[in-house]
Formats: sequence, C-alpha cells, structure tokens
Amino acid sequence: MRLWSHFGPDVAPVKSLAREPDAQRQPTTPMKIRARLLRMSRLRVLSGIQPTADSFHLGNYLGALRQWVALQDTYDAFYCVVDLHAITLPQDPALLPHRTRVAAAQLLGAGLDPDRCTLFVQSHVPEHTELAWILGCITGFGEASRMTQFKDKSAKDGHDQASVGLFTYPILQAADILLYQADRVPVGEDQRQHLELSRTLAQRFNHRYGQTFVPPQPYILDEVAKIYDLQDPTAKMSKSSSSPQGIVDVLDEPDAIRRKIARAVTDPGSEVRADPEAKPGVTNLLRIYSALSGEPIATLEAKYAGSGYGVFKKDLAELVVASFAPIREKTRQILADEAGLDRVLAHGAAQAHQVASQTMTAVRDHMGLLQPVP
Ligand code: AMP
Ligand code: TRP
Repeated sequence: MRLWSHFGPDVAPVKSLAREPDAQRQPTTPMKIRARLLRMSRLRVLSGIQPTADSFHLGNYLGALRQWVALQDTYDAFYCVVDLHAITLPQDPALLPHRTRVAAAQLLGAGLDPDRCTLFVQSHVPEHTELAWILGCITGFGEASRMTQFKDKSAKDGHDQASVGLFTYPILQAADILLYQADRVPVGEDQRQHLELSRTLAQRFNHRYGQTFVPPQPYILDEVAKIYDLQDPTAKMSKSSSSPQGIVDVLDEPDAIRRKIARAVTDPGSEVRADPEAKPGVTNLLRIYSALSGEPIATLEAKYAGSGYGVFKKDLAELVVASFAPIREKTRQILADEAGLDRVLAHGAAQAHQVASQTMTAVRDHMGLLQPVP
C-alpha cells in the first residue's frame, strides 16, 4: 500500500552538515580558537538526560555520564538537559527550573567542561520542537506504537492517562540527535530502540528528500549498559520504578550510600562471584565495583575469595562514596552561583543554535518549505 511504503526503510550514509563554529560567541584566545578548530575536525557525539529528579543515580552515572565526560576529549561533544522530555509526564512547574539547574550542575560536577563540550538546555534551542514536528510527519503510527518504553510507561497509569507527548517522545529524541548531525550517541541499553528509530528516520528523510542527516550510531558499553536495582537485582535501577533503597543517588550523603549498599539484596551462599543467573545481586555489585575501580571482575573475585559479602560490600560502599563525594561538592559549589551557571547554559545554547539552525535551513529547503524573504 502506498501509505506503508511512505514509512519504509532507506539507506545511504551521508556526510555531515553544519560543522561551523559559533559566530555569536567566537573563541577569543589563540588557544581557544585552536581547541575549537580541533573539536570541529572530530566526529560528533550528542546525548541528553531528563531533569526529572533531584539527583542522577548510579545507573545514569555509569551507563551514560561517565562516557559523556570521557568522550569530550575525542569527539565534538553536544550534551543537553532535555526539559521538554521531562514534561511528557505530569510535573510540577515550581520544581522544573531547579531540577534543570541541578541536572546541569551535576553534569559539570561530574566533569563536563564548557570549554571542551557544548552543554545546553533543550528548550533554549527551539529548532528541537520544529524538527520533531517534521520528523513526526515521516514516522509511521505503527512504528511509533512499537516503542517499548511508551508501552511500559503508559501501561503504568493506564492508556487514557498517557499524553500524546509521551507517545511522540522518541521523535523529539530523534530531532535532538539529527539536528546536530551526531555520529555517536552515548546512552544506556534502555535507549537502544529509540536510537534505531532515529537512525531509520535519518535514512528515510535522506532517501526521500536528499542527503540531509548523519544516521547516528549508539555508543553503549556492555559492562555498564544496565545497572540493576539494589533491592531487586532483576530490574533496572530507575528513578521512576525503583524504591529509594534500590537506588544510589549521585548526590546522596555518604551515610545513605553506605546504608543502601550494606542492605543491597545479595544471593544465597557467601561467595563473591559473578553469575548473572544464579547470583544477580552480587553480579550487579561486582559490575559496579569493577566499573568504578577499573579492576576486572576476575581480579575482584580473587581478592574477595573466602571473605564473604560483608567486607566486599563495605569496600564497595567506600568506593562509591569516594567517587561521588567530589561530584557532590562541585555540584554544590556550582549551584551556589546560579547566575554563573545560567551564563554557561546561555553560551551552550548559542553554540548549539548555530549548528541547529543550519540543519533546519537544509531541512526546510530539502522538504520544499518556502523560505521566508530575509
Ligand atoms: P534517564 O534517567 O532515563 O533520563 O536516563 C539518562 C541516561 O542514563 C540514559 O542514557 C539511560 O540509558 C541511562 N540509564 C538510565 N538508567 C540506567 C541504568 N539502570 N543502567 C545504565 N544506564 C542507565
Ligand atoms: N530518552 C533519553 C532517556 O530517557 C533522554 C534523551 C532525550 C536522549 N534526547 C536524547 C538521549 C538524545 C540521547 C540522545 O534517557
């Protein structure tokens, strides 16, 4: 049927568009100009995170944030706090601005550097919603209906309670990515299906209207792609579904971290050994330990052979406390200077807008939308 082929898959990788530097606030010193030119010659990454809680958690940190920090040195990196995604579920307008700042402050606290990446708030760059509309017009209804995260989230409160925004959420996410011609997208495993949709939409648009978008690839690290709930090690650690005891927050007080790890569900027996089937709790803790310390799991198994869960959990708790303490402190300092933080975000939005507006000019042109006379 004609309509279905309208939503068929396409091919053809394309060259990246829109790699120009920001005109509004050009780098000022020779060092900065050099750094910006170097960044532009690199592949690009983009990722986003929702400001839906008062703190990010250990799953966000290991699954996404750490990669964001690492990639800013080898990629031209764009990162956004996706506040428009955060309003797809009921939310409190009195909390959102604070949570948006807390999210940005934690990203900086974890090591993002505004001189080495572009950090901004999604709603500050209006092209995101414009492109989302356009991509919605080339997305099949059935295709959008297959997104498992929508099915899970809407099943929770009943279908009638779910907003259309929650349904089209992955299309806005595709717009976030495609606007910046991102080559790679660092995320946790739960985002894989959304990234496949982004890639499909890029290829479909290119096929139908001419080469416009880079089809993005996921950047997902197996060892940390899915960190599990400490109280239910068969479920993902998640701010919406885990109990407070099941989640370790980046901004938790040290004693709260120690308590949660001490009470983490372990498995029958006392052997510290990775076995996802028989010992999901211990395996999750070993993965967290290994990711934070850099020691392979086999080394940790040997280190704790015969010592039981108690010592192992105590050491892990201290490792998490030591990893999060500097982030917590830096986040606190950044939040103490709200005006400074807002300036960093305004600068990021100006830089992002430069790239996004070039992509949108190409999109409008390729689609046949009449350009206004300047
Ligand atoms: P969200 O909290 O849903 O906005 O997710 C932000 C980022 O953290 C995304 O890249 C997710 O894939 C990642 N993420 C969320 N929960 C986990 C988890 N339990 N394990 C690994 N990555 C996660
Ligand atoms: N959907 C992502 C999540 O829940 C957040 C997100 C929005 C995102 N836009 C993005 C992630 C673009 C990567 C790229 O975690």
